[in-house]
This record gives sequence, structure tokens and C-alpha cells, in this order.
Amino acid sequence: MRGTLARRFVRHKSTAAAHFTGLNPSRLLQGAKPLIQPHDLRPVGLLDQLHKKPVEATFDGLGVELPNIDLRQDLSPEDIEVIKKASDDAGGIVVMTNQSEDMTMHDHVRFGQQMADSDSTVIEPHSVAAGHPDAPEVLEIVREANANVVFGENWHSDNSFHDRTCSYSILRGFVVPRLGVNDTLFSSVEAAYDALSPTMQDLLLDLNAYHSANRAYGAGHPGNSRAAMEGTGTMQLRQKPSGILDQDVLQPVISVHPRTGRRGIFVSPTFTTHIDGMRPEESIALLRFLYEHIARPEFCTRVSWQPNQVVMWDNRSLSHKGLADDVSELRIVQRVSIRGAAPVNHRGQAFSLTHTRKAAAASLFDWEEAARQANGVAKAKA
Ligand code: SIN
Repeated sequence: MRGTLARRFVRHKSTAAAHFTGLNPSRLLQGAKPLIQPHDLRPVGLLDQLHKKPVEATFDGLGVELPNIDLRQDLSPEDIEVIKKASDDAGGIVVMTNQSEDMTMHDHVRFGQQMADSDSTVIEPHSVAAGHPDAPEVLEIVREANANVVFGENWHSDNSFHDRTCSYSILRGFVVPRLGVNDTLFSSVEAAYDALSPTMQDLLLDLNAYHSANRAYGAGHPGNSRAAMEGTGTMQLRQKPSGILDQDVLQPVISVHPRTGRRGIFVSPTFTTHIDGMRPEESIALLRFLYEHIARPEFCTRVSWQPNQVVMWDNRSLSHKGLADDVSELRIVQRVSIRGAAPVNHRGQAFSLTHTRKAAAASLFDWEEAARQANGVAKAKA
């Protein structure tokens, strides 16, 4: 009875508050289990189409599955805190399985809104790609069968090109591929930071780097480009892109998580252009080291997609990418993103002033050279 009423209410009220259960928040943790990696079920021999390399991900302790959170129902502030704590404890990935077939896009938005409200933050429609016609806060990411690399397929933290960057992203599988292909790949940038030598940590702690939307959505690069998005015929660009394509933003290279205090590596090949104050060749070499470091299998885990699954991740703890290792499959996922706070360094300083410049011209990371080297190494090993 409760379920039927709640469903009817949600459907008719869209983003307005749904039925509040008023139960003990700990019920949300019933059946919680570490994220099980279906290593044995995954098809073998597939290559990440971006780097033409197999993907190894062996960090089995990262992430938690919560099978008893019904996102059609309204959650109290205490419920939201339980979910955020579960995320902190699991290193930033919460996989909410067993969602109802009746869950709507508006349920998805409402959950995002509740998460945002809990930190006095806001949901953030994407600044370059158009939102879903029925809910502008929802970014639909479409990989058509046999399409080229489309969107978010190299490492990144969502919207790090904004002054206030994305805290949590909430991704719902809409058309999911067969189990174990086209997963979302995560790296714990906190574990990756912890594994660095104290000398390297000290070197990085007071560095800052520029991040640019133009790097990914302007001219773009392998892994993300405006042309690839336009080429799908399904992902639409905003009619009036904001001025974000003409601005860089300065962020700490190592940011400190506002809830846990953990330090994480906060640069990405998708959005970072260069490290402030370094010569190009120095910046390229250091960034290349960091990108290869965070991609090491021991910091990575794959989240495989199943029907009726919603995945929330913490962009301050993790870098991620949409894997394209079986491009024959259609895949549609829908994302709600929350605009958080400006990242801070170990001194509590944020540098998120924007700097108007032609960001593409400042894209010092040499992608083609890196890809040549990666392919050369892969061939040499084969
Ligand atoms: C994203 O970057 O948010 C998309 C991740 C995915 O497609 O798996």
C-alpha cells in the first residue's frame, strides 16, 4: 500500500517532495555490501578504445552497494547524512541497486536536490551540453552503437573547470550494456596520493593547475570533443553556451576533502591544461606521471552496469571515466551533478578565480605524443 501511494504521488508531483517514510535512517544500510567486482564474468580480451589497451582494475575495497534505498521515496536530512557517511567510508562510490522500474527522472532529480540541499549547494545543469528536454538538470550521455569516443571517456573529476566544482555526481543507467562492458571506471585519487613518496607529496602540495572546459568541449581531444558530441546526433549542445569556454580556473593540484580531510590528486587529462609556474616541458612531464599514476590498477575499480541501478560518486575522492570497450553496444546514462565548493589545498586556500584566456592555446599536455608512447609501450609488451 505504502509503495503504491508513494509511486502515484511521485508520478504526479514530479520534483515536489515525495512520500517521506519517517523510518530509522539505518534501514538504508540494510544489506550493505562491499562492491563485488565480477572479475570472472567479464568478457576477456576487450580493449579500452581510447588507449587501445586492456583495462586492469584491482582495487576491490573501493565502493559499497546499498540495495535498500528506494529513490522514489523522499529522504530526510538524517537519511542523506547516512548515505554521505557510507560514501565517505567506502572511498566515494555508492551503488544503489534494486531501484523500481517505476523510478522516474524526477525522482533522480529530487534525490540530487536533497543531496545538494544538505550542503547548501545546488544542482548544476551542464554548462556546455544541453539538458534533457523533460528535466534540464539531467544530462543524458549517449553512446550510439559503433560511435567514436563521445563524452567523458578519459579520466576526470566532473566540472573541475568551474570555480566551485562538482561534489557528487549521480548516474542512472537508462539503456545498459551487457554485464561487464562499457563500465564506469574509477580511481581513488586519495589512495593514489597516499601511495606517493613523502618527497613527491611535498612537491605537489603547494602546486596549482589550470583547468579548462575548452580543453574538452572546444577543440577537444581524444576522450572528449565537441565534434564527437555533435557527431552523435543525440547529445545536443546548449544553444547559448556560457562564457565558460573562454575561461580557465586555477585549482590546487592536491585538494583536501571537506568531510574526511583526505588529500587527493586533483588534475585530469580531460580538463587540466598545465601546472602554474612551470615550463611547458616540466608541466607535461609531471602531469603525465600523475595521469599514469592514478590509472594504476591498484587504485582502480570498475562499476558494471545492471538494470535499475543508480551510482553516486564523490568527485573529490575519485577520478573516473566512461569505458568504451565494446562499442557495438548502445549505452545511455543520465547524470545529475551537484555544484559543491571551491577545492582547497592543505593550507585551506582555494584559488578558484577565473582567468579569461584562450584556453585551447594553453593546452600544454601533449596528447598525441602520450598516445604514441602508450601504444609503443603496449606493442613492446605484446
Ligand atoms: C561521466 O563522466 O559522468 C560519465 C561516466 C560514464 O559514462 O560512465
